[in-house]
Order: sequence, then structure tokens, then C-alpha cells
Amino acid sequence: MSIVLLGIESSCDDTSASILKDGVILSNCVANQEVHKLYGGVVPEVASRAHQVNIIPVVDQAIKKAGIQKSDITAVAFTRGPGLIGSLIVGVSFAKSFAMSLGIPIIEVNHMQAHVLAHFAEDPKPKFPFLCLTVSGGHTQIIKVKDHLTMEVLGETIDDAAGEAFDKTGKLLGLDYPAGPLIDKFAKEGKAVFDFPEPKIPELNFSFSGLKTSILYFLKKNIKEDPDFIKKNLNDICASVQDRIVSILITKLKRAAKETGIKEVAIAGGVSANSALRSTLTQTGEELDWNTYIPRFEFCTDNAAMIAVTGYYKYMMGEFAEQDVSPTARYSFSLRSKSDEG
Ligand code: KG4
Ligand code: ZN
Repeated sequence: MSIVLLGIESSCDDTSASILKDGVILSNCVANQEVHKLYGGVVPEVASRAHQVNIIPVVDQAIKKAGIQKSDITAVAFTRGPGLIGSLIVGVSFAKSFAMSLGIPIIEVNHMQAHVLAHFAEDPKPKFPFLCLTVSGGHTQIIKVKDHLTMEVLGETIDDAAGEAFDKTGKLLGLDYPAGPLIDKFAKEGKAVFDFPEPKIPELNFSFSGLKTSILYFLKKNIKEDPDFIKKNLNDICASVQDRIVSILITKLKRAAKETGIKEVAIAGGVSANSALRSTLTQTGEELDWNTYIPRFEFCTDNAAMIAVTGYYKYMMGEFAEQDVSPTARYSFSLRSKSDEG
């Protein structure tokens, strides 16, 4: 019998549903919430309400696109956390009631683990063990991936995430939220002529809050001399900030590869859509003889295909959740299920 999984993702501001049949993705549908642009960031209550509006149409669309019937689905995998609690509640409640109505099991998924397993959505897949730099709006981690469900966090941010560094810089520059893709776009037309300091953070950890402060003072000082400074230099500012964020990430990734001796290196999460990070990783890989892995854009930002893929590996291990499972806003790797230990 085929294993047909419905994956549900609702941890932040994207509502997504995906159908995976015997490990192959048949559909991956995402409803974005443009409304947050008005506020310069995700408003949790607004996100939760939009998920309620979007979830049924997105699931219907995913089933239709996959060309299957609802009755073909054998299990439902959903994001349990980490994320915004009001957003998670919508996806978790939907997944539980949908599964209950069909009499099929449910599988809970850690969103960050799923970003890593997005690499298993299609070929080429990294070989174990591999290093994964997971960079999103909420997290920045270097993870040693021992097998599909056994992962160890080697280092992480002590303050802001890399995505926040992009988004907060964007706010200072007057750009729409999320600013990451816009900074990426403007940087292509500019040069990294402004120098922002590299933080000195021990071991494999990261810090981005100092960078934000130095950008703030840099802008204040220059705007005082020329009120049109941002307008005149937007592309170069974006290129300079992006250059520094990428160099912070790649420096730590090089160190992790050296310390572990691992040459299989992957990136994941929304910020891995960044073109400078992608090209720098490829270039570094060529220099240091790494095999590098970069997901397609569709699998970098939040999506339900990665939830379904993670659910598939848990299904094979017989790791099902009970109906009383609840969402958890903070879901660290220390809260892992039994196969994650060790
Ligand atoms: O993984 P994701 O979709 O959601 C979270 O789990 O946070 O990541 C969203 C983050 C945002 O901070 C967004 O600005 C950033 O990813 N991002 C980018 C790019 N595309 C998305 N940052 C830099 N360059 C991009 N091209
Ligand atoms: Zn994410």
C-alpha cells in the first residue's frame, strides 16, 4: 500500500499544505499573507486569523493538484513548533480534526528539523553526516545531521537571527517587510563599499544585534550630513550589509567543517534563498573541496513539503503523535522525540 502524507505548515505567516506519496512530492501549495507589509513585521493575531481563512482552501488545492482523493491520505504531518502560538494552533487543530475525521494517524514535526530535511524533497540529497547552516527569520543554527532524525546543534545565534538582521536593516532603510528578498535584489546593483564590523563571538555561535546597532549609527551619522543619503546609496548599503551577514555565516561554517572534518555542507531556511549566500557557499565549497547542497527556492522559505518529508521519515520509524498533542512556541532540539537522542 502507498504511503500518502498530507503535510501542514502554519508556524509564522505562510499557510502551506503538501501531498507526498511514497517519498515523492505531488504538490506544495503556499498562501502568503501580504497584510503584514502594512505593519513592517508579522502581527501574530493577524497571522492567526489569516491562517484560519487560508487553511481549508490551501489543503483543498494541495489535494486537487496532487490528483488524489482525500480518502487516499494515510497520515497527516504538521508543524508543532517552534513558531507563533496563535499560528501553530490553527495548523495543529486542523491537522488533528482532519485526521480524526478520516481515522488516520498524526505525526508532529519540529519546524527547524523540517528545514534541514527540505534537502530530502528531491535529488541530489546530502550524505550523512552533513553540516547544515539553518538560517531563517527566527533561527540561525549550525546543525550536525547524523541521520534523518538525529541532529545536533553545534552553534546558534545568541541574539537576532540572520533573517532578522536582514529584516531589521530593511526597516531602518524604509523597506517593506520581509526585507531579505529586497536587500538581495538591490545588492545586485551595488558594491560592498561600506565596512560594518564583524562580531567576535566564541566557538560556533553567532550574534547579529551589534551589526544592527552599527548600521543604525552609520545611517544616523550620514543622514545628518546628507538627508538623501539612503536614497542615493541604497544599492551600496544593501550590498555592504549583505556582504557582512554572508561573511559572518560562512566564517562559522568553515570553522564547523574544519572542527568536524565534515565536507558535506548544506544550507536551509528562508535566508538560504539569498543569492550572495548561495554563490559564496558554492565558491567556498569549490575552494575547500566540499560537496555543497542548496535547496530550490520553493523549499528554502516556509513550506509544507518539508513537513511532509519529515513526517515520512517519522512514519517509517512508527513515530506517531497522540490526539492530545499541543503546539509549542518554543520547540528546541532538546525536546526531541525518542529517535532523535544520541
Ligand atoms: O524560513 P522562513 O521562510 O521563515 C521563518 O521560519 O522564519 O524565513 C523567512 C526569512 C525572513 O527573515 C526573510 O527576510 C528571509 O527569510 N529571506 C531572505 C531572502 N528570502 C527570504 N533573506 C535574504 N535574502 C533573501 N533572498
Ligand atoms: Zn522557517
